[in-house]
Amino acid sequence: MSSGRKRDRWDSSSDEEEGGATAVGGLSGETKKTSTGPGRPPQPSTENAAVPHLQSALPAVRKHNPLLQGCRSVYSSYERVARLDEGTYGIVWKAKDTSSGEIVALKQIKFDETLTKEGFPIAALREISVLLDLSHECIVTVREMVVGDNANQVFMVMEFMQMDLKDAIERSGHSPFPQSELKNMMYQILSAITHCHAKWYLHRDMKTSNILVHKSGKIALCDFGLARKYQTPLKAMTQMVITLWYRPPELLYGESVYGPAVDIWSVGCIFGELLKKKALMDGQGELDQINKIIALVGAPTETNWPDFQSLPNAKMFRWRSKGPPTLPATFPVNTFTGGQTYLDPNGFDLLSKLLTLDPKQRISGEDALKHPYFRSTEGVERQVPRFIFD
Ligand SMILES: Nc1ncnc2c1ncn2[C@@H]1O[C@H](COP(=O)(O)OP(=O)(O)OP(=O)(O)O)[C@@H](O)[C@H]1O
Ligand SMILES: [Mg+2]
Repeated sequence: MSSGRKRDRWDSSSDEEEGGATAVGGLSGETKKTSTGPGRPPQPSTENAAVPHLQSALPAVRKHNPLLQGCRSVYSSYERVARLDEGTYGIVWKAKDTSSGEIVALKQIKFDETLTKEGFPIAALREISVLLDLSHECIVTVREMVVGDNANQVFMVMEFMQMDLKDAIERSGHSPFPQSELKNMMYQILSAITHCHAKWYLHRDMKTSNILVHKSGKIALCDFGLARKYQTPLKAMTQMVITLWYRPPELLYGESVYGPAVDIWSVGCIFGELLKKKALMDGQGELDQINKIIALVGAPTETNWPDFQSLPNAKMFRWRSKGPPTLPATFPVNTFTGGQTYLDPNGFDLLSKLLTLDPKQRISGEDALKHPYFRSTEGVERQVPRFIFD
């Protein structure tokens, strides 16, 4: 450092990974002092140096037991590399594990007054407990929780992923995703949500910015701040969930007794977005969203949604659209359309089953994974997507 200012581990301008990261200000704006200095991993303990056989038998760095010793300090364990994003519930940082050199993502929990009615933010608590309960290769892994100096500095340490799917779509240019890559992405997304449902969790905020992608092609579901347990028979829950563009018709019509089908509708919207490379139904409000849904997949009838009339808002929200559903024209089968991925009859069938109005008739995650679209037909195998990471 050229100035007399003491550098902290979170002022990491010298340890950029992959050449592109830029260091930004400290997590709390404070300067932290550490005895080992920036970038230097903790030195191995010398307490067993006199007993050579013991020294080699024991790990150099003792395993930290959070039950006995509490959470580790962020300052002594991680060096900041860059600020990645800021969401409603947290600020996400790219950081480096000072002992292993591994790159991780830290989500700093926001202690906003509006989020913390009873001390610790409930969405963060929910996210931590759900993620610790779920273990699947397509769900982001939480390594540990670390703390800062104050009670309101809490960080969730996760595996680092290069970007989210929304950014990956934007950065991949105008040409459509190859069929094989699209299948692979859809299979991973469906595997993740099916695992959640099998463990009795609803995600309730499935969207492309809550799906992370790794340069290896691996996809992982994140942001479990709105997740919660469900049970059968289904019980009433809040309808104030799922980002509008991905929200299913039953929630828009006021249904409070819902289950896994709500996430499946969102997966259908994500499928459409991956095909078109833009949001499938970008409503400007609830009524506009209803209009867009009905224009795409048709209006509720006695046959396609027998329970519709009993929904709280069934008589309140009327739709404008009168014509036939635009889904077939939007995704013409066996036709190459400029700018969107070719869809075979199986692909179209799966898309229609995900975007089925009646939640009871909508395909389940488990059945979607078994859909013929994912079987190798016409020489199209699933392939690891090659995202663009410049
Ligand atoms: N493990 C990770 N690796 C890399 N980037 C990540 C990781 N986790 C989250 N991000 C990035 O940070 C963004 C915000 O994270 P997340 O969705 O968990 O926070 P949030 O506060 O709940 O966000 P929002 O309210 O915007 O949905 C993600 O959209 C993604 O771009
Ligand atoms: Mg999010």
